[in-house]
Amino acid sequence: MTQHRTPLVEMRNISISFGGIHAVDNASVDLYPGEVVALLGHNGAGKSTLIKVLSGAYKRDSGEILINGEPVQISNPRDAKAYGIETIYQTLAVADNVDAAANLYLGRELRTPGARWTMSLWRPRRAKSWAVSTPTSAVSRSQ
Ligand SMILES: Nc1ncnc2c1ncn2[C@@H]1O[C@H](COP(=O)(O)OP(=O)(O)O)[C@@H](O)[C@H]1O
Ligand SMILES: [Mg+2]
Repeated sequence: MTQHRTPLVEMRNISISFGGIHAVDNASVDLYPGEVVALLGHNGAGKSTLIKVLSGAYKRDSGEILINGEPVQISNPRDAKAYGIETIYQTLAVADNVDAAANLYLGRELRTPGARWTMSLWRPRRAKSWAVSTPTSAVSRSQ
């Protein structure tokens, strides 16, 4: 059904090695609008590395990325964000003194209009549940 539509995101023949380790070897993924896709594999299979290539954290050795059918250059996380690609990292990479929503907006907090100094004023307007406004240090790893 989805094959006739243009994928929102295509990763084609992505490879990346660290020294002699082929972390990702010729991987291709098509992501269509509205899909929820799980990437499964053993520890060390290359899942995180593939996502880090998409999110601009790692530079691929070969392969290409297309957004809406157009080849794009994603060289850093800022490029990825410009294409609407957001990455939620595993527990050890989050700032555990702020809540989950603040982790999503790290480095892009709303600031006082016109202020030159960087005091962050960003807070969720109204916490929808206890989990949203709870520092991630107080949330179990499975949450
Ligand atoms: N920065 C890195 N430097 C060296 N090797 C790495 C690095 N990141 C990942 N690897 C290696 O790449 C392989 C894939 O790792 P990873 O993508 O983390 O797997 P997964 O997320 O599927 O568990 C593993 O062998 C891992 O040790
Ligand atoms: Mg991983």
